[in-house]
Amino acid sequence: MSKEYYIGLMSGTSVDGIDAGLYDFANNQARVVDFHYQPYPDEIKKKIHQLCKNHQSVSLQDYGQLDTQLGKLYAEATLALLKKANVDAKDVLAIGSHGQTLHHSPNTTLPFSLQIGDANIISQITGITTIADFRRRDIAAGGQGAPLVPAFHQAMFQTNKENRVIVNIGGIANLSILPKDTQGTILGFDTGPGNTLMDYWISEHKNSAYDNNGEWAATGTIQADLLKQLKDEPYFSSPPPKSTGTEYFSADWLTEKLAELPVYLPEDIQRTLCQLTAETIAKAIQRFAPETERIFLCGGGTHNQTLVKALEQLLQPPIASTATQGIHPDQVEAMAFAWLAKKTLQGQTGNLPEVTGAKETVILGGIYQA
Ligand SMILES: Nc1ncnc2c1ncn2[C@@H]1O[C@H](COP(=O)(O)OP(=O)(O)O)[C@@H](O)[C@H]1O
Ligand SMILES: [Mg+2]
Repeated sequence: MSKEYYIGLMSGTSVDGIDAGLYDFANNQARVVDFHYQPYPDEIKKKIHQLCKNHQSVSLQDYGQLDTQLGKLYAEATLALLKKANVDAKDVLAIGSHGQTLHHSPNTTLPFSLQIGDANIISQITGITTIADFRRRDIAAGGQGAPLVPAFHQAMFQTNKENRVIVNIGGIANLSILPKDTQGTILGFDTGPGNTLMDYWISEHKNSAYDNNGEWAATGTIQADLLKQLKDEPYFSSPPPKSTGTEYFSADWLTEKLAELPVYLPEDIQRTLCQLTAETIAKAIQRFAPETERIFLCGGGTHNQTLVKALEQLLQPPIASTATQGIHPDQVEAMAFAWLAKKTLQGQTGNLPEVTGAKETVILGGIYQA
């Protein structure tokens, strides 16, 4: 049987590492062939965080070198994936590389979104045609450049049997609303912080990159005043199309909010941040998809039991992992960018203007030929 192999490389705003997935899209199917996760080394994480945080005074040397370094790491992750899968580079049609977001600024007078990890290097080292820089063409067409995964969610998860919502909980959380009327409009937007504030808070207090299973949060109590203060942020009630990033929901954002309130126990703040993620997701679903019959979760937040329980308490429809639909929650985004690479390689458009706000559909990304 013929094969149509594509690779997806995803490294999101959590700055945890590289999700590298090999997928077979032959016969309009989507099959997981193999997957390799490569955590970022600590010094790389530190460099990324520094550049994200100090964007007022970035050195061009640091920026350029990190672009090169990440390109090499993405190539390395690809080679490790191919080795694990025992597949030859020449059998892969293309790589879709999301890149590492340093800054997402879709609403400024001169909008942009910056993802780095030089695709020239990925293509050169792997010998595989690489597609990258997916967001900026949508921004050029007047869109937010994000989220781009709803088109993939639609292709994979939409059914005429029930109204579904897919929630991806990465550093930032985004959702896709998939009506059972398959001619209906797909909505999708970033709801706000996913794990990013929880990751920041636990790293400050427990020397841990994330709250495993949400165990620390589970020891805390929701602080109503703090939760209200956090939820008052205008982003949450603003209508889509909208997208956001960690430059907005940052450590500084949280610090400012906390400064106006009494001192709370660190675990209470962790629990409240977890509740913020859950309530802003739940509110978005209730407001924009009140007819939802089933919710599927993907992204690393799926592993946070305290968060999942909070969502179950807030929402009526049953909630399950995308694993129940055949795609592991840690792989949905990598698969989405492999799928978007296929679209681009075949000259097909990949954005949904009703989601991003672009004035038209466009072919996404730049092609770096092998
Ligand atoms: N076992 C776990 N328990 C709780 N949270 C987890 C677990 N595994 C991953 N996560 C969360 O998921 C994040 C990574 O999710 P991911 O989907 O890769 O996001 P991104 O796309 O932003 O990189 C981690 O930073 C962490 O917050
Ligand atoms: Mg990640």
